[in-house]
This record gives sequence, C-alpha cells and structure tokens, in this order.
Amino acid sequence: MGEVVKPLAPYPSNPLQIDEDRAISGQLKLRRRRYIQCCGCITAFLLILTVIILVLGFTVFHVKEPRLMMNGVTSVNGTFPGINASTTLVADVSVKNPNSYSFRFSNSTTTIYYDGTAIGEGRTPAGKAKARRTLRLNVTVEIVPSRILGNPRLVSDTNDRALNISSYTRIDGKVKILNLFNKHIVVKMNCTVEYNLTAGSSHDNNCQTRVEI
Ligand SMILES: *[C@@H]1O[C@H](CO)[C@@H](O)[C@H](O)[C@H]1NC(C)=O
Ligand SMILES: *[C@@H]1O[C@H](CO)[C@@H](O)[C@H](O)[C@H]1NC(C)=O
Ligand SMILES: *[C@@H]1O[C@H](CO)[C@@H](O)[C@H](O)[C@H]1NC(C)=O
Ligand SMILES: *[C@@H]1O[C@H](CO)[C@@H](O)[C@H](O)[C@H]1NC(C)=O
Ligand SMILES: *[C@@H]1O[C@H](CO)[C@@H](O)[C@H](O)[C@H]1NC(C)=O
Ligand SMILES: *[C@@H]1O[C@H](CO)[C@@H](O)[C@H](O)[C@H]1NC(C)=O
Ligand SMILES: *[C@@H]1O[C@H](CO)[C@@H](O)[C@H](O)[C@H]1NC(C)=O
Repeated sequence: MGEVVKPLAPYPSNPLQIDEDRAISGQLKLRRRRYIQCCGCITAFLLILTVIILVLGFTVFHVKEPRLMMNGVTSVNGTFPGINASTTLVADVSVKNPNSYSFRFSNSTTTIYYDGTAIGEGRTPAGKAKARRTLRLNVTVEIVPSRILGNPRLVSDTNDRALNISSYTRIDGKVKILNLFNKHIVVKMNCTVEYNLTAGSSHDNNCQTRVEI
C-alpha cells in the first residue's frame, strides 16, 4: 500500500514537546495564581493582625490615667496653725482608677507648703485602688510649728481668718494588665487650697495633676 503518512505540516516535529510547553505554561499560570493567592492571604492576615493589635491596644492594653483629687484639708487636732503645739492636718485625697485592672501604689507622700515653705509632710502607706473604683486616702500631715510661726505673713493671714496653703502629692504605682504586663504610672498633684481658720477646713481646692504613664 502506497499510503504515505504525511506529517501534518504546522506541527512541530515532536508533539510531546507541545504538551510539555503547555504543561509548563499551565504550571507557570498555576504558580502565578498561587503566588497571588498567597500574597492575598498574607495581606489579609496582616490586615487582620493589625486590626486585632489596634483593637487590643485601644481596649485590653489601653491604660487610662488614674486621677488624683483633693477633697479638702481639715484640722483634726487643735487649731491650725497652733500656737505652740504641733497640729495635725488631714488631707482628704482620693485616687480614682478608671481602669479594669487595679492600680497598686507604693507608699506616697503629701507635702504641705505655706508661702513656699514646706511646713509638714504626711505619708500614705502602700495601697490599691480597685478596678473602676475611687480610693479615699486620709493623709495625716503633722505640721511643724516652727516652720510656720516665723513667717511674717501669718499675722495678716490670721487676721483675715484665711490662709493659702499648697500641697504636693506624688503617687508611684503600676497597673498589671492581664496579670502579665506591668505599666508603671506616676501621678502628681499640685494644689492650692484656701484654708478657713474659723471653720478649720479648706473650701477652695484648686489642683493640677500630671500623669506619667
Ligand atoms: C492630738 O495631738 C496629740 C499630741 O500630739 C496626740 O497625742 C493625739 O493623738 C492627737 N489626736 C488626734 C485626734 O490626732
Ligand atoms: C501652749 O503652751 C502653753 C504653755 O506651755 C500651754 O499651756 C498651752 O496649752 C499650749 N497651747 C496649745 C495650743 O497647745
Ligand atoms: C516608703 O517607705 C519606705 C520605708 O518606710 C521609705 O524608705 C521610702 O522612702 C518611702 N517612700 C516614699 C515615696 O515615701
Ligand atoms: C477618712 O476621711 C473620711 C471623711 O473625712 C472619714 O469618714 C473616714 O473615717 C476617714 N478614714 C480614716 C481611715 O481615717
Ligand atoms: C489666696 O489665693 C487667692 C487666689 O489666688 C487670692 O485671691 C487670695 O487673696 C489669697 N489669700 C491669701 C490670704 O493670701
Ligand atoms: C506645681 O505646679 C506649678 C504650675 O504648674 C509648677 O510650676 C510646679 O513646678 C509644680 N510643682 C511641683 C512640685 O510639681
Ligand atoms: C470661714 O468659715 C466661717 C464659718 O464656717 C464662715 O462664716 C466664713 O464665711 C468662712 N470664710 C470664708 C472666707 O469663706
């Protein structure tokens, strides 16, 4: 039989080669698609991670500033300023903790000034302001008479039955997040208080606080 098997003209000599080429280009496409998918996945993952970190940063790990407040200064023992005996003032300071974690602080000090001179210092033992609670500290301050009696201003202030004292309170503490991370916090409060000699207490408490987180 004279049948001649004619190779189909446009075909390259080896059909296997074509399959291979197709396979390779298909593989390449697949690889590219996988690569793109992978990139998408990583991007999505990073986005979700960022969102989670942001949300945690604004919620669980967000430490709000504790607030210090001066509610008043009262004389508890004799009249302030005493003539010869030391008198005691009680500074009614409270710590407001807005966090969902307790704010623990070490012993703190409150200093009372008159006309720029420290006239007494009170200490508060270490304590804890519970989550979202306000802790009231009565800081007992022993006034050293010699520090105030020598001040020439005292005469006119005594006649006015009012004197301006100022106070400085500093509390060093920390908030422990999820029982894992400690956030150190320093709260400072600076007050000027107008003390009424007749009433034996202050009525105008003007404070400035500064918080370092
Ligand atoms: C008043 O002062 C005296 C002498 O300093 C002291 O013994 C006493 O405990 C004080 N009382 C109060 C209520 O602080
Ligand atoms: C001041 O001292 C005098 C004499 O020492 C005493 O009698 C008096 O009670 C004292 N005053 C005060 C407020 O402690
Ligand atoms: C806390 O108390 C200790 C021991 O009584 C004392 O050495 C330290 O100076 C106090 N710290 C403050 C800030 O008062
Ligand atoms: C603190 O001060 C408040 C108000 O003056 C008083 O009711 C409370 O008994 C005081 N607490 C202490 C421990 O002195
Ligand atoms: C106390 O301070 C207030 C406000 O700064 C002032 O108006 C007042 O005259 C002062 N009083 C005395 C006795 O210094
Ligand atoms: C108290 O506040 C005044 C005014 O902000 C500031 O100049 C001063 O340094 C403060 N004092 C303390 C002991 O922080
Ligand atoms: C001081 O207190 C007395 C008695 O509570 C009161 O009558 C007087 O007005 C007060 N003085 C000032 C300057 O607020």
